[in-house]
Amino acid sequence: VYKRQVMTRKLIIDTDPGVDDAMAILMALASPELEILGLTTIFGNAAIDVTTSNALTLLETVSRSDIPVSVGESKPIASGYLGPVPQVHGANGLGDAELVTPNTSASAEGAATFIHRIAAENPGQVTILALGPLTNLAVALQRHPDLPALIDRVVIMGGNARVPGNATPVAEANINNDPEAADLVLGADWPVTMVGLDVTHQINLTGAAIDRITSRESAGARLLGNALPLYRGFFEVTNGLDGIYVHDPATIAYLLDPEAFTTQSWPVRVETESFSRGKTWPNLGDTDEAAPPAWQGRPRIEICTEVDSDSVLRLVEQRLTASA
Ligand code: BDR
Ligand code: CA
Repeated sequence: VYKRQVMTRKLIIDTDPGVDDAMAILMALASPELEILGLTTIFGNAAIDVTTSNALTLLETVSRSDIPVSVGESKPIASGYLGPVPQVHGANGLGDAELVTPNTSASAEGAATFIHRIAAENPGQVTILALGPLTNLAVALQRHPDLPALIDRVVIMGGNARVPGNATPVAEANINNDPEAADLVLGADWPVTMVGLDVTHQINLTGAAIDRITSRESAGARLLGNALPLYRGFFEVTNGLDGIYVHDPATIAYLLDPEAFTTQSWPVRVETESFSRGKTWPNLGDTDEAAPPAWQGRPRIEICTEVDSDSVLRLVEQRLTASA
């Protein structure tokens, strides 16, 4: 007699919570297919002390403080922090929801060290899910050249291959927050999947769906119910949208149901100069030999170009209504 086992995927979530980060983390916690080995925090939607506190508060709210939190970088590898985005995520990074001060604290080990240690303890088994600027991953790569060989896959929410940006006319927010780090991470010798604006701007979680999720009687639903109105208001004003784009939750949907996404395999460079700083540029050409020098020798990464948004939205709602 065979017992059917759910194959779990080991995850480190690198995150800048962040309203949609919180949604993604809650989705992951509600997914038996995923085992979260730790959260590593990064500046981005808010400063590092704020995103770290939010990560701890979120875990405590849903009684999952058993998951360790490691503090990451406070600024990009080669420039200064562009600053928080209170108009998108609130001054406290979680839509100005009233938050309890966490009783737990982050571990003494920093994010880059944590990522490398966990990868070395689970060689070939860990997926790094990056939901913020790619600085922690870049620092981990610089300090630990053996890291790529230890990692199963890197999945990032970030970038825009063939569509405009959201932080600037040409750049997506996470990449724009540290273009030099992104260029390193997308050029390293590990398998990368990019879940960027090409697909997330096609995934609109409507106001009605948000209401169904947040009307549930659970600690997670209550937190989202308090955090989402400000975030929702931002999309209404800037995009004329009923509801929100589910950027970070789309990566969880990708892990759970990759078939819902169409991918193309292209090498990518990140622009670090000029007014196009932060733009991810794929080379759509067929061969490495024919590639312009800037793309030569770069690994191909999996770029999500199309999405079955109904499947993703079903999954988002299903997991978020099941969450604690
Ligand atoms: C990304 O930027 C952040 O504001 C969100 O949390 C998401 O990770 C979307 O561009
Ligand atoms: Ca994020």
